[in-house]
Parts: sequence; C-alpha cells; structure tokens
Amino acid sequence: MKIINFGSLNIDKVYSVRDFVNPGQTVFASGHEIFPGGKGLNQSVACAKAGAGVIHAGIIGKDGLFLKEIMDEAGVDTKYLRIMNEPTGHAIIEIDHTGQNRIIVFGGTNQLLTEGYIDEVLTEAEPGDIVLLQNETNLIGSIIEKAHERKLKSAFNPSPVPENLNELPLDKVDYFLVNEIEGAQLAGANHGDSFEKILEILAEKFPAARVVMTLGSRGVMYKYKDEVFSQDIFSVDVKDTTAAGDTFSGYFLAGICRGIPIPEALKEACAGSAIAVSRSGAAVSIPEYVEVRAFMERKK
Ligand code: RIB
Repeated sequence: MKIINFGSLNIDKVYSVRDFVNPGQTVFASGHEIFPGGKGLNQSVACAKAGAGVIHAGIIGKDGLFLKEIMDEAGVDTKYLRIMNEPTGHAIIEIDHTGQNRIIVFGGTNQLLTEGYIDEVLTEAEPGDIVLLQNETNLIGSIIEKAHERKLKSAFNPSPVPENLNELPLDKVDYFLVNEIEGAQLAGANHGDSFEKILEILAEKFPAARVVMTLGSRGVMYKYKDEVFSQDIFSVDVKDTTAAGDTFSGYFLAGICRGIPIPEALKEACAGSAIAVSRSGAAVSIPEYVEVRAFMERKK
C-alpha cells in the first residue's frame, strides 16, 4: 500500500513578529527566512520519513527547484513532479512570540493541474492505495472522483477550507483529516458546538469515512462508526506551529500504510507533530521516524 499525494508545494516566506500585525498597522519583523513548505510537500515529507512509500504529484516553477530537493532527500518519489514557466506557489507566514502562525497562500503553479496529468499519475495506483489531497491545488473534486472510480482510498485534508466545500463529492472520501475549525465547517455545526458534537455530526453525515480531528492542546480524536480513539498531545516548548497538522497527517497515514493499530498511529503522529512544533520551519521541522520513536521512549 502506498500514498499518492496530489499536493501543493510552496516557498514559505516566514516573518517573526512579536504580535500579529493588525489592520492598518505596520510592524517590523525581527527575522525573515525562506523555507520549503506547502501542505502537500510537508505531508509527503512526513509520510516518507514515517516509512510510507509516497509519490508526490504537483507542479513547481523554476524558482521552486529546491522544493524537489527536499522531497528527494526525504525519500519521496518525485518522478511525476512537473516544472513550468510560472511562479511557484508561495506562503507569507507570520510567527508570533508564542510560536503561533498566520498564513496567506498564493496558489501559483499549484493551481495548474490538468485532468490529463491526474490520469497519468493515477496509472501508478494499485487497489488499496491512498490518494492524499489538501485544498491548495485545483481539481480536488475530480481527483476524489477518479480515486473512487479506481477503488482507491482517498484522504482529504480540507485546508484551507474551500468555498465550494459542499459541492465536492465528499461522500466518496475515506479519511477526513481536520482540525476543529475545519471539522465544524465540514459538519455544518452550530457556533459553540463541542468537538464531541462535531464528530457525531460528521459520523452521521459521512458514515463511510474515518474522521481524524486534531484539537490543539487537547490532543486528537478518531471516529469511525462506533470506534472512537483519542490521544493526548506530548507537551514540548513551542517554537513554531507551522506544519504541525501536516506532520500529524503524514505520520498518521504512514502508520495506516504500515498496518499498525489506529491508537499507535495516532500516538506516533502526535509525537511527530510535537517534535515539529519544537523547531522552526515547515518541512525542515519534520522529524525522522527514529527520532519519533526515541522521543516516545523518553516520554513514557
Ligand atoms: O500547513 C503549513 C503550510 O501551509 C505552510 O508550509 C504553507 O506553505 C501553507 O501551505
């Protein structure tokens, strides 16, 4: 079983600020760095580091060649990565003094996927493979349909939440990977609904799907029919929360591919994302599998 990730690749332009800038305000950044990122790239790197076979499908411009390098180094299969004469997607990221972030994403080449390209990549798919998607590329609905037709599993991380969320063929998604805000939007929950309520609505609305919902400092919940698991976070000193969710998603899906029990996959994923938030940057903060296991031993 392998993962085929139709995912974004971004050049992350990261600015350290004491507090997030307010409307009408101008502030100095105390630091500026360029990192490899993109929810797609980060998740592919996490999948590969966690031991899954992963093919990354996506498009970069000539300004983004270093993004291919970081995926190659992590062991991601990049043979389908295309390079075009357009600017690579990028993200403007503010990191405040607590390590929280605010992100603006520009789509760039991530929005240039075509039906023909998707079909070509899917010739690699074998039954049971997982097609992974976030919402930073185009043709999301079409990829979900094509994965379903080919009897593949699809895993969707609807981030950033699409405006046309409810027009997508969501009944054909096998795994939803969401945070609480995304989960609430997916569920159409009322303001103030608890996460238990959100999970209940999602389980009713999408009975065929496994829902994995991250809850920040309250850990993570998994629900599929009557099966419910939870996992606490591992506490660490937070430096930069960018790619915490991506690390979690990649590690969790890699655990599924390796056939480990769900509670163990959730635990490894939480450990992976705890290490990631203790470091700066997106993809470069994602730990190797041996580091994750050693961290879990120490935290026993
Ligand atoms: O999830 C973190 C990622 O979101 C960043 O790497 C940035 O590129 C945006 O896509």
